[in-house]
Amino acid sequence: MAIHEIIKKESKNYDSFYIYDESIILEQIKNLKENFKGIDFLYSVKCNPNSYVIKSIFSQGFGADAASLEEVIKAHNAGLTKDKIYFSAPGKTAKDIENSLSKAILIADSLNEIELINQIAKNQTAQIVDIGIRINPNFSFYGNHGIPSKFGIDEQDAIDFIKNNNCTNIRINGIHVHLKSQELDINVLKNYYKNMFTLAEKIQSITGINLDYINLGSGIGIQYSPNETPLNVKELGAAALDMLYKFKNKYPNTKVIIETGRYAVGKSGLYVTKVLDRKQSYGKTYIILKNTLNGFVRPSIIKLVENYSQQSEPSSYEPFFTNKNAFEFETLKPKNNLEKVSLVGNLCTAIDVIATDIDIPRLDIGDIIIINNAGAYARSVTPMQFASLEKPKELFVDKNGTVNIEE
Ligand SMILES: Cc1ncc(COP(=O)(O)O)c(C=O)c1O
Repeated sequence: MAIHEIIKKESKNYDSFYIYDESIILEQIKNLKENFKGIDFLYSVKCNPNSYVIKSIFSQGFGADAASLEEVIKAHNAGLTKDKIYFSAPGKTAKDIENSLSKAILIADSLNEIELINQIAKNQTAQIVDIGIRINPNFSFYGNHGIPSKFGIDEQDAIDFIKNNNCTNIRINGIHVHLKSQELDINVLKNYYKNMFTLAEKIQSITGINLDYINLGSGIGIQYSPNETPLNVKELGAAALDMLYKFKNKYPNTKVIIETGRYAVGKSGLYVTKVLDRKQSYGKTYIILKNTLNGFVRPSIIKLVENYSQQSEPSSYEPFFTNKNAFEFETLKPKNNLEKVSLVGNLCTAIDVIATDIDIPRLDIGDIIIINNAGAYARSVTPMQFASLEKPKELFVDKNGTVNIEE
């Protein structure tokens, strides 16, 4: 059954829901695997932790980029072994470390954290534990100097630490850098990869350690609005592999890793919500929908920021990136009977608005709106507790067309 037929059917059961299409996820993953042969991939679980989604992605050989103990456990329960789960996040607690040590590769985010892992390793295992460190390098995504960040350890501090390391229960054997996600400029990404290979060489030659892996983080973006040019993944892959082969000539045993969340799932998700009411007020028509700001927050953010911004195009940070054209609103109604309406949610706040004065086919109570680009940082970043409203469901259409519902 085509996805729109499934949506039509399921909207009789649910007033608001996400629907993820596995065939799109598998296609995206195939693109990465074909174009980046020899590079390992991790899926950033925080992007969409739906259990069907993660199982599907892990079944394709991807490991996990886990940002919390909960995500480590999720990946572990989904069947991944320790060598496939990388736990990287700032501010890990002793409990996080104690409970993840046997299930994941830990990436220390600060010098304090290295000491803490060392202490816990000493108490818990009395063995030497291999860890990675997240580095805040002497370059940025767009320039050639380091910038202050809450993430990672500044490059020089990391090098000094490794040279004088007297932590007896850890061995640093990997590095991780992530500076930015959602990049569409291929030259920026190529330059970033180049800087990363140089950094890996530098660290090994200055400190004498052997890196078992370098994790390049993410950056690969997707096209949100029609006026953006999609990234040429084939060309980026070819450039990355060229650098990889040169690097491997010198360091044949170092694994190279890329993390990705949105490229794998961003396009696979649609958000479906129902018209609960329609009304006229002083000449304007409002369509009241179920769960917008509190169901799929990203389309509402433009409204949250635009009134306070002097810029014509308000800026917003990842993972809340949005812009005026980043989401399309589709209906199942005939396209010849358009009316000008504002699309608003049923939450008790006036900022719960996803579109103002747009032309859309006439909508009546019980009709549905379908919003695209709802696979990544969609449900996972949406605050749903305000007013204790019912939460949207999550449906996963697997490659055989079976609809699975997340419990
Ligand atoms: C450390 C890290 N890795 C990977 C990602 C995934 O980024 P994306 O979903 O854009 O691929 C993020 C996202 O913010 C991140 O913070």
